[in-house]
Amino acid sequence: MKHDRLVWSVLGTAGAWFLADKARARLRLSRAKHPSLAGHVRMAKRVAALVPSYAFDAAHFFAVDDAPREVTARRQAGFAALAALYRQRFAVTRSMTAEVRDAIPDIAFTSSYRVPFQFSPLVRESLSAGNFYKASRGVILTDCDDNALYDLTGSFGVNLLGTDAYRDLIAEGAQTVGDLGPTLAGLHPVVADNVRRLKAISGLDAVSFHMSGTEAVMQAVRLARYHTGRSHLVRFAGAYHGWWGDVQPGIGNPVPADRTYTLADMSERSLEVLATRRNIACVLVNPIQAMHPNSGAPGDSTLVSGRKNGGVDRTAYSAWLERLGQVCREAGIVLIMDEVFTGFRLAPGGACEYFGVSADMITYGKTLGGGLPVGVLCGRAALMKRFREDRPADICFARGTFNSHPYVMGAMDAFLRHMETEAGRALYDGFDALWNTRAADLNRRLESESLPVRVANLGTIWLIHYTIPSRYHWMLQFYLRAEGLALSWVGSGRLIFSLNYGEAEFAAVAERFVAAARKMQADGWWWQPEGDAGRTLRKGLRREMLGHLLG
Ligand SMILES: Cc1ncc(COP(=O)(O)O)c(C=O)c1O
Repeated sequence: MKHDRLVWSVLGTAGAWFLADKARARLRLSRAKHPSLAGHVRMAKRVAALVPSYAFDAAHFFAVDDAPREVTARRQAGFAALAALYRQRFAVTRSMTAEVRDAIPDIAFTSSYRVPFQFSPLVRESLSAGNFYKASRGVILTDCDDNALYDLTGSFGVNLLGTDAYRDLIAEGAQTVGDLGPTLAGLHPVVADNVRRLKAISGLDAVSFHMSGTEAVMQAVRLARYHTGRSHLVRFAGAYHGWWGDVQPGIGNPVPADRTYTLADMSERSLEVLATRRNIACVLVNPIQAMHPNSGAPGDSTLVSGRKNGGVDRTAYSAWLERLGQVCREAGIVLIMDEVFTGFRLAPGGACEYFGVSADMITYGKTLGGGLPVGVLCGRAALMKRFREDRPADICFARGTFNSHPYVMGAMDAFLRHMETEAGRALYDGFDALWNTRAADLNRRLESESLPVRVANLGTIWLIHYTIPSRYHWMLQFYLRAEGLALSWVGSGRLIFSLNYGEAEFAAVAERFVAAARKMQADGWWWQPEGDAGRTLRKGLRREMLGHLLG
């Protein structure tokens, strides 16, 4: 009897201890989330589900911030002038796009979501410039109306060297592998050269080839889970790692990502979670987040605030990565640097070199394909192995029909060899100073003309932010286009330059950029209410949404 009581008491104490420990771990995890919706992905999804659908008619479109009549009249006239210009200048490209819009969901989606949804129908109808291009030369894109536009799309980050260079790399690569042609029976010998070069660049022992950055990330996470025997991955709030469900929890993904923790970037609390939880297989880092830790690139459809966005503190971010690496090493967590975007763009050794960090695995993609689609994973040999000597049936499967496609491998070979030449190495000489100076000069001009726009940059990766709040910042993308500057569909949240922008080309872009902002200001879009404008606008937006939600 006494013995039984003792057993129950020990079990009870152990149980209470266990539960308290669980509660502490849960609390630690909650506290390591960033307080914004970017840090609370489930909540973000719930909030998104509540957002009511409504659109402004012509009467409200120009006056959602209660601007005086004189201002709304200027806006209306500016909008009408832009619409007339778009109708005339982009006529062919627009009508081609309208014809396929419903048959290409990507176009239907991007054309609807490039501005806040309330403004979208009128903007779609009036300010479409179309989605087609027929040529590229130097830093210029030509659309189907023969308009020449400066390319600030950067082909989503692929275009590092300028499109002419990729045309040459693809041709050179095709020649290298031409005798074998598009056969997938085995590997073209050029693969061995690519592997040798990638090992040297990454400082890692093994390489696998995939068809996109998304797949390279999938494989990295799968291998980390396989080798650690742990279930969860950690990503940082706001970071993009491709569109695979596990790395994209929350809005945009219909399936819950239950084995993903989204933690606050650059946070001691996140390090505590990493040091104490035993179920974390890997941490993914997208170094672009150095520009805007804990939030995604500011998008035109969401920008309202005049919050400063985008300054990079290289020393602080390097120190953070070093601490993160140390904690991961001690906790047996695989550190994956996702260099799909930053690889080759910041330094020959990518963000790892730029920020002085070493990783267990590195993913590459985009420019590495020499202009063709690719994803690459480099890793420590032990982590890259897909089977166990002592458990032959316990394998980690990964395939992909077009992995190591000869033409992609040929273009990659041409790219990597080019980067080893004197000209390739010289691309990075004074690179940081040059692009920082360009950004600073443009900011000085904007400031001297009292324009409320600023740029921030990480090398050639730029974003636009604003010094005042407004419901209309997204209009800038249409003024920029009218001045001959082509942005990708994500709009002014991300401008990407290629390294072949010489002084004259950059000066032309800066001139047009300032001209666009000047016109936008003259047309009244940046009118400010009295007092705390940010507060007034946020309050108005909340009231408007609530009104529509409640019918
Ligand atoms: C950091 C990062 N990882 C992964 C991806 C996904 O690459 P892909 O679009 O080739 O699938 C991207 C794409 O933008 C990226 O920027």
